[in-house]
Amino acid sequence: MKKILITGGAGFIGSHVVRLFVKKYPEYAIYNLDKLTYAGNLENLTDIEKYPNYHFIKADIVDGNKMFELFQQYQFDGVIHLAAESHVDRSIENPMEFIMTNVVGTVNLLNAARKIWKDSTGKKMFYHVSTDEVYGSLGETGAFTETTPYMPHSPYSASKASSDHFVRAYHDTYGIPIVISNCSNNYGPNQFPEKLIPLFINNIKHQKKLPVYGQGINVRDWLHVEEHATAIDTIFHKGKIGETYNIGGNNEWKNIDLIKKLIEIVDRKLGRPDGTSLSLITYVTDRAGHDLRYAIDASKLKNELGWEPKIKFTEGFETTVEWYLANEKWLENVTSGSYQEYYRKMYDNR
Ligand code: NAD
Ligand code: TYD
Repeated sequence: MKKILITGGAGFIGSHVVRLFVKKYPEYAIYNLDKLTYAGNLENLTDIEKYPNYHFIKADIVDGNKMFELFQQYQFDGVIHLAAESHVDRSIENPMEFIMTNVVGTVNLLNAARKIWKDSTGKKMFYHVSTDEVYGSLGETGAFTETTPYMPHSPYSASKASSDHFVRAYHDTYGIPIVISNCSNNYGPNQFPEKLIPLFINNIKHQKKLPVYGQGINVRDWLHVEEHATAIDTIFHKGKIGETYNIGGNNEWKNIDLIKKLIEIVDRKLGRPDGTSLSLITYVTDRAGHDLRYAIDASKLKNELGWEPKIKFTEGFETTVEWYLANEKWLENVTSGSYQEYYRKMYDNR
């Protein structure tokens, strides 16, 4: 039985990856390692927690000794590394936590793999999940390819860029079998409501202000989280060692257009007259270092490994809104406690 370590499996994307692997590969033992920060929530996995091939380990990747002990104890065959601090606004408030988890944590995992996999035969894989934000910001045209130079602007993207460099360096220096993917913005169920889409669905529902940064002209490429999970599955099994693959949704939206679309869907699903919530739109001070536009050229992934997104945004968006409206309890649980303080700090003075 292959032993696969998935880090950050209690978070948004990680929980979808864990579910996919646990269900699709009963012949793999899946170890979900997570510190359970504010963003990690085991409720995301209640449907699969009793599967015999699923195991949970509560641990902090910043603890290097612990990572070594776990690699020694379990002798993992593969790693899919998603654990990270992931929110740009929080990185502007507190960069150090991002350096610790995203850089030091990643290097701790690499060190453990380096020591434990040293004498091993057979196929191993260290898969590092990264973001398109490492490439920086685009103008009106063009798209990031795998060879676009790195130019991160936020402490979050700088920490992810740094971790990508270490992963490549450990491949080139020590021969660790690695693969990296850089993906665009994800949306879908189980995303913590500090990120644009779940935050705004929740605010529209409760008729709270919608804080649009700057002029709302920034552009993001949106991919459904379940498709990110299938792309990760494809790359983990078919990707070439040492390579990087961009993952995207072919689905660019200007923030303000996306927000108006959300308003239309939420109002309609709640039986409100069309346009009811448009007055909630509130332009606030722009995010510092706010990247104007991200766009992905994912042709390498399509041409070499045959993966491309299938979910139409209109459909993915409708079902995502339905999920947040139907999962009131989940939203209540994650927005109690420290979330309230975060919200006040972020938005009360803007
Ligand atoms: P998330 O914030 O929802 O989840 C992160 C998970 O990591 C949480 O479960 C958290 O408890 C865990 N974690 C944090 N610090 C840890 C530590 N020190 N030790 C162990 N576990 C820890 O993040 P997400 O949006 O699911 O992103 C997952 C990965 O995908 C990240 O590496 C992120 O950079 C990358 N990514 C995200 C997006 C996106 O749109 N969300 C896009 C591209 C890439
Ligand atoms: P976000 O979901 O934080 O993802 P990222 O910054 O990683 O792309 O933000 C998506 C876009 O929405 C980004 O351009 C910032 C903008 N935004 C707002 O205008 N208001 C908000 O309250 C948030 C959270 C984001």
